[in-house]
Amino acid sequence: MAEAMPRPHVLMMSEITVDGKLTLKRGASSKILMKYMAHETELLLHKTRAELDAIMVGSNTIKIDNSFLTVRYVQGKSPLRVIPNSNADIPLDSNVLGPDAPTVIAVSEAAPADRVEAIRKKGVQVVVTGRDRVDLPLLMKTLYEKFGVRKLMIEGGPTLNWHMLHYRLVDEIRLIHLPFIVGGADTPSLVGGMHIETEDEMIRLELARHYMCGSNLVTEYRVLYR
Ligand SMILES: NC(=O)c1ccc[n+]([C@@H]2O[C@H](COP(=O)([O-])OP(=O)(O)OC[C@H]3O[C@@H](n4cnc5c(N)ncnc54)[C@H](OP(=O)(O)O)[C@@H]3O)[C@@H](O)[C@H]2O)c1
Repeated sequence: MAEAMPRPHVLMMSEITVDGKLTLKRGASSKILMKYMAHETELLLHKTRAELDAIMVGSNTIKIDNSFLTVRYVQGKSPLRVIPNSNADIPLDSNVLGPDAPTVIAVSEAAPADRVEAIRKKGVQVVVTGRDRVDLPLLMKTLYEKFGVRKLMIEGGPTLNWHMLHYRLVDEIRLIHLPFIVGGADTPSLVGGMHIETEDEMIRLELARHYMCGSNLVTEYRVLYR
């Protein structure tokens, strides 16, 4: 039997409304919803970041939210920030390209050389993997072997979440439930991507824990696959 590629343990963590949405409407920053998180839950999120070696979000979240992805509300070291961005087109003034924490931008071989160079000049590391789209399994292996990442958290968005689950790269899911309904058929939900055809393709989870954190319910699941 082929040996599994070494990779970090991966936790997917997200705030989510009662109707499963991650933001107010397509194109809106999730920072608007995050304002309604209990302070205790903000602390939980930042404590979790500080416990892990790396944090990854998709390039579209960077373009919309301009996240810092740093540890601010508790004592602790900010993790390595990892952004898959196949075409190397994130804005050069993005907060993740700033000096607050180390950053890896993962690009594909098709990314224009001048854009890659401009990102490198910001003082961040660039990993090239995949022909025209970042190869996520290979990126996980590189993070494990070259950057010593043993525990990684992904904080969305739905497109990256779907691809990580599709490649069976997620081990745990932790959800911060916000007591709101926002609606909208095209409002981003926890997992985007393609629908499945049959129930055999459903990804099975096992509830590991649930608890209140301030006024927010938090649920934790193990991802079982099959
Ligand atoms: N509530 C929350 O916890 C939370 C957290 C995060 C985000 N959000 C919200 O989610 C929304 C953005 O989500 P989104 O689904 O549009 O984008 P996303 O998942 O943040 O980013 C997707 C992008 O990542 C890049 N990428 C590179 N390699 C990839 C690969 N192998 N597989 C998948 N993606 C890859 C792709 O763009 P290129 O390769 O072309 O660069 C892709 O379009 C925003 O509204 C944001 O506010 C909410």
